[in-house]
Order: sequence, then C-alpha cells, then structure tokens
Amino acid sequence: MPKRPLIILGSDHAGFKIKEFIKKELLKKNYPLQDVGTFSLKRVDYPDFAEKVALEVRKDKNRKGILTCGTGIGASIAANKIPGIRAALVSNTKDARLSIEHNNANVLVLGGRPFNKENTRRITNVWLKSAFQGGRHQRRLKKISNLEKKYLGAAEQTKRIQGFQEKRT
Ligand code: RB5
Repeated sequence: MPKRPLIILGSDHAGFKIKEFIKKELLKKNYPLQDVGTFSLKRVDYPDFAEKVALEVRKDKNRKGILTCGTGIGASIAANKIPGIRAALVSNTKDARLSIEHNNANVLVLGGRPFNKENTRRITNVWLKSAFQGGRHQRRLKKISNLEKKYLGAAEQTKRIQGFQEKRT
C-alpha cells in the first residue's frame, strides 16, 4: 500500500471552522497532519496561510495541502503563485477527482463560508483517494512548470534591470 501523504492544513479566519472540521475527520482516519494555522477566528490575511501551506507542501512529493478561506478563491490565487504548487479550488466530488487525475493538484482548496459537512467529507475523501493518470496530462503539467520557469525568469530579469536603473539615477 502506498505511504499515506502528510497533510498540511491551513486557513484564514473565514476558513477556520471548515479547517477544524477537516482536521477532525482526517484524524479519525489516522492521516498524519500538520496544521500551520490560523488557530482562531481572529481576522488574518489568507495569503500568509496560503504561503505557509505551499512552502510545506513543496518540501516533499509525499505531502498534500488542504487550504481554506471564505470562498477558497483568494487562497487558491495566492497558493498558485508559488512555483511547484497546483492548487485546485473544488466544490464537488467530480472536480475533486479530476483535479488529481488530470492536474495532479497538490493543494485542495475549499470555501468555508458556508460549508456543508457531508459535501466536505466526500470531497476530501475522493481527493485523497484519487490517482494521477499521467500520459497526456503529464505533458500538460510539464508545460505548466515551463510557464513558471519562463515568467519567473522574466520577473527576476525585470527586477535586475530596475535595480540597475535605480543605481544609475
Ligand atoms: C476574508 O474576509 C475573505 O475575503 C477571505 O476568506 C476569502 O474569501 C478571500 O478570497
């Protein structure tokens, strides 16, 4: 049997309740977990927690992230800025399955305002049990990592040029 992934959990305040619900469900199933916060309903900023989850997930292939905020939108936008992260905002079991089979998503993003316990349980279970299909999908993922290289490279080059111009002025 393949080794169970380490699940990295993170949320902002609006995703806190759904994160706590998922945590309880995963603990019942004995998944190894790491919760990077937030740990209360006190207002925080979702990019900070998206970054924490993303940095933990990319440390190792056998790690997956589950990230939540109010809608899931902000957290997924932020997480997808981090190279190596494929964060999928999902609201049903079909998309949960396809986000793994086709996109090999390494972060599942869910909206917590509002959330339905049964739907959340089902989505999380399907997501954790699905397998990447490879083949033509692998080729497409390679193209995504090429985009990261191409545009990250470009961003760094712009920064260097700006730095050079600032020194001259
Ligand atoms: C926080 O109020 C809310 O904006 C955030 O949780 C999320 O929904 C953003 O996309």
